[in-house]
Amino acid sequence: EKDGHDWFMRKEIFEQPRAVADSLLGRRTPEGHLQLDEMRLSDQELRDVDKVIIIACGTSFYAGMVAKYAIEHWCRVPVEVELASEFRYRDPILDYSTLVVAISQSGETADTLQAIRHARTQRSKVLAICNTNGSTIPRESDAVIYTHAGPEIGVASTKGFLTQLVACYLLALYLAQVKGTRYGDEIGQVVEQLEAMPSHIERVLADQEAIYALAREHVGTRSVLFLGRHAGYPVALEGALKLKELAYIHAEGFAAGELKHGPIALIEEGLPVFCVVPPAGRDQLRDKMVSGIQEVRARGARTICLVEDGDDAITPYADVVIRLPQVPVLLQPLVAAVPLQLFACELATALGHDVDQPRNLAKSVTVE
Ligand code: M6R
Repeated sequence: EKDGHDWFMRKEIFEQPRAVADSLLGRRTPEGHLQLDEMRLSDQELRDVDKVIIIACGTSFYAGMVAKYAIEHWCRVPVEVELASEFRYRDPILDYSTLVVAISQSGETADTLQAIRHARTQRSKVLAICNTNGSTIPRESDAVIYTHAGPEIGVASTKGFLTQLVACYLLALYLAQVKGTRYGDEIGQVVEQLEAMPSHIERVLADQEAIYALAREHVGTRSVLFLGRHAGYPVALEGALKLKELAYIHAEGFAAGELKHGPIALIEEGLPVFCVVPPAGRDQLRDKMVSGIQEVRARGARTICLVEDGDDAITPYADVVIRLPQVPVLLQPLVAAVPLQLFACELATALGHDVDQPRNLAKSVTVE
């Protein structure tokens, strides 16, 4: 049942190219328009949306952070992303023109469910992004985008995360199509870039042995930091969460620009720091990241840089280079998250932990 893998998690990591492809299937009409099967909200309702609030927990929350960049960029609608467990308690400002997007792989997370119940009492429309057909959250929502990851058994979310990202991009593009904020050919071009992602993910997976060797070098490491910017920032947070969950070691993700506001004090000789480098096309972002990498390295960090093919500006400051295919910055999380999943899975394995059932965790958290 694990297809020859030692863990469900590892099997699920390797299923990601297929899961991403499946989540894209059937989303285009023959005329090239995007269609979302269970988008039960009318075009008029979507045109009336003047604010989006995304609520989720854990890894799903990080998918929501990526969605914010995508929706604001393509649709020019303000987006807030909020932890479901905090949402209700701050008396959020909601009305009928607010679209609340709940992201939940399981569809049963209690914090997220309570948050959407609250949103509906305020007359907001709720759209669920979910991997589990017929689960509670989509049943209590006005609309659904199902991800097609297939059952995710490992407690740590992997293919769930990547397919949530796909659903978020589709939602952003669909909103842009309905609101007319982007032209059809631009939307079509992004959809084509998305359709190329499964083969890019395959490419990243093919480098598994190098990542595994790197992971095994880190048995005994007590702390790991992750830095990213823009859509790479949630990837940094996700990389840190995977390591906490599976390897039980201290790991933290930061927005690279925040370093100098405090976290740089943590840097000491030999501390591993993963750096998710934005694609070279986004030079301002990329250059700022390079200087962040120089700064931590000058203070003794061991820099492990995820860099796109052909970008050699980082190499002088990278102790380890992990290559990523060239993709647009907004889509980069789909490839950049994968080496971090492989790293956490292998390090936890080397430490002798139960990767599929980490201590103290449950697959779906049905209590608030
Ligand atoms: O089923 P959900 O997407 O609502 O779950 C949310 C979180 O509990 C979940 O992502 C959790 O953080 C995972 N264990 C992460 O690997």
